[in-house]
Amino acid sequence: MLLNSIRNGKIGILLLLGIVALSLTFPRTGSSHEPITTKVMFNKEVIRILQTNCLGCHSEGHVKADIPLTTYEEARPWAKAIKEEVLEKRMMPYQAVKGYGEFQHDYGVPQRDVELLVSWVDGGAPKGDEKDYPKESIQKLIKGDTWQQGQPDLVIQPPKEFRISPEGKNGENEVRCVSIATGLKEDKMAAAIDFKPGNGAIVQSASLYLERPSVRKAVKAAANKCEMAQGAELLSTWIPGSRTGQLPEGYGFMLPAGSKVLMKISYRKSDEEATDLSSIGIYFSKGGQPGRVVQDVAVKSNETVIPANADRHKVKASYLINENTEAIAIRPVLFPFAKSVEAAAFRPDGTVEVLIWARNYKYNWQPQYFFKSR
Ligand code: HEC
Repeated sequence: MLLNSIRNGKIGILLLLGIVALSLTFPRTGSSHEPITTKVMFNKEVIRILQTNCLGCHSEGHVKADIPLTTYEEARPWAKAIKEEVLEKRMMPYQAVKGYGEFQHDYGVPQRDVELLVSWVDGGAPKGDEKDYPKESIQKLIKGDTWQQGQPDLVIQPPKEFRISPEGKNGENEVRCVSIATGLKEDKMAAAIDFKPGNGAIVQSASLYLERPSVRKAVKAAANKCEMAQGAELLSTWIPGSRTGQLPEGYGFMLPAGSKVLMKISYRKSDEEATDLSSIGIYFSKGGQPGRVVQDVAVKSNETVIPANADRHKVKASYLINENTEAIAIRPVLFPFAKSVEAAAFRPDGTVEVLIWARNYKYNWQPQYFFKSR
């Protein structure tokens, strides 16, 4: 009887140890004994969805390098959080509300991909076959050595790298500007102008402006302080994870001979001093001069005071265009605490079309949305 109970006791202890050992071996995947009830595999479907939508930020050398999601081992502990973030539409952090404007990239995770992610998480989050993992393209993405539209016709860079001090100024982003000569000997049309960060961990956003040779002198003094960027001709903007849009066939940016491109970069504060040498890629229009030149307009409000304690205060701005014009892209930019931005076109024939509605507006995360051409 005594022996029996000791034996039972031993067995009890052994079992208990077994359980402790197991839970130590798999500290963050306590559910690893969940039965696998899904056919969706990390190495096959999930990594490709993450690659398209998430890894532009969630990988080494990019803004969310502290939560990398590039391998099964990295992503598995975040499985439940990934499901929650995509179901709540919090990730990616920027996205226009569906049904308000039609864009080349609307940045929401497509419904079918949301369903695949949810199925993967709920079905036990299996890894799948090593040979299905797209190793090469993930490596390229991490190294950041790819241009989204292939090798540009012309790549220009600042003469030297920027040194960014730790913590920025007053804990804010640090903004730097530099004018870079295009070296163009004749006027050229560009079909696309792209930006590639040198140090993706600290570049929060970039804007590229055209500096015409005729006005260069006048802006030179101000350019050091980035002031000229206010009224300058915008060519392109970039934020982490954003995708470059295509201009419609036959449209282009006019780059005069001798022009420069002003590169304005907003750097995130980091713990250590960091350096960055970013690049601009220019794609020339094929087949000579396209018919139509692209220009940007800024729709600005003069209202600078928001009444104290105002609830849902509305700020309005408008811009009158007197020529027949086609909208190609739009970028909502408001003050940091704005909650929602909406833009609409009022046509001469009385029709109104909502161009964009950015509902969960986040100041630092506003890409340029390129309209689908019709
Ligand atoms: C533009 C950059 C960017 C992209 C793209 C992006 N994220 Fe994030 N992610 C962030 C930032 C920044 C945070 C930190 C929270 C915040 O600021 O909203 C974050 C936080 C998270 C977290 C942690 C939430 C928590 O519980 O703390 C998860 C999980 C996540 N993202 C998943 C994703 C997934 C899945 C995608 C793709 C569908 C994605 N993210 C795309 C920038 C990005």
